[in-house]
Amino acid sequence: MAKKEPLALGPIFSALTIQQEIKVLCSYSPDFKTLFQKEIADFEGAEWLHELDEGTAICRWPEDFRPFFCRHRFPIQVSRMFESSELQEVGAWSPGSHLVDRVKGLFSFQLAANRRLPWSFGSLVPLWLDAFGLSGERMEKRRPETVVSAYFHQSSTELTLYLGVSSPHWNLSPWMRGECRIPRAKTSVSRAEQKLLEALELCPRLGGRRALDLGAAPGGWTRILAERGFQVDAVDPAELDPRVAALPEVRHHATTAGVFLEQQKGIAYQVMVCDMKMEPVMASRLMLEFAPLLDQHGWLILTLKLPKGPSALKVARESLESLSSSFQIIQARQLFFNRNEVTVIARK
Ligand SMILES: C[S@@+](CC[C@H](N)C(=O)[O-])C[C@H]1O[C@@H](n2cnc3c(N)ncnc32)[C@H](O)[C@@H]1O
Repeated sequence: MAKKEPLALGPIFSALTIQQEIKVLCSYSPDFKTLFQKEIADFEGAEWLHELDEGTAICRWPEDFRPFFCRHRFPIQVSRMFESSELQEVGAWSPGSHLVDRVKGLFSFQLAANRRLPWSFGSLVPLWLDAFGLSGERMEKRRPETVVSAYFHQSSTELTLYLGVSSPHWNLSPWMRGECRIPRAKTSVSRAEQKLLEALELCPRLGGRRALDLGAAPGGWTRILAERGFQVDAVDPAELDPRVAALPEVRHHATTAGVFLEQQKGIAYQVMVCDMKMEPVMASRLMLEFAPLLDQHGWLILTLKLPKGPSALKVARESLESLSSSFQIIQARQLFFNRNEVTVIARK
């Protein structure tokens, strides 16, 4: 069957370092679409081009655009419209050497579709390895150096493929559409644990001996940090789950963060986390007061509990600006496990 020309989606990009202004396939929480659109509207050069389906849109993305409400992105370097969605046709297609040559080192395919396709991605991968001329031995799911992202959008008449090659870091999240796949542990004591696990995937160099957990109860984050070898000071007036309180690495301080701070003299932490139920601007100010307790280059992971409605954006921006006076912001985004929240990952 005759194939249509690729959609006119702009230039093919010449390097893995993505160029200044590009078209990107973005994923976001549908509940926060309005806020994401507002961020795009407020940023010069950014543009909402086309909504593909709920939670997925094509945007123009200037290099220095860092929105709160995007979970995942990949550059659209090639698009292709197939008239049939048969596996044979899709599997025989290749983006060409100009793109395949950019697949460096260990790589992974990240594949998603808006609807169930008549075949599985598991059956597509061996065909694409063959068609792209890539060796399956270079495939690495956990820590790839390059990601080949492909999103299939199926309408009633045709199947469109959007494809891009980028670094996992560029994509913002290691999971396609940002859909974090970390399962909940049997030993988990709170749903909040998933938020920290997701954030930790984004700071792989995190290390050290001592951690401070502000707003620790019932103790999920404390449990995870203890499991990773940290001695944890867990601060919360509320009780910890007895399984967490009994861990030898954990010391519970049954008081507020403010009182705890007044009592501290000279302890240095390599990691400070905070999941307190507190107005974001106040939480950020408190983090500035706590900053002297954190080692130089120490990590801060903080959830900002946002108000509902359009003021959330203003509040998030103000909080981030205040944090920036003492911390280098690595990421500040709504992660998959965040509801009305933004997770800030920062270093001193
Ligand atoms: C969402 S829970 C934290 C859940 C925790 N991250 C976990 O994984 O189990 C928020 C906690 O913040 C605590 N909190 C609120 N204000 C606080 C303050 N000023 N100082 C210390 N803890 C506070 C509350 O008591 C509550 O236990």
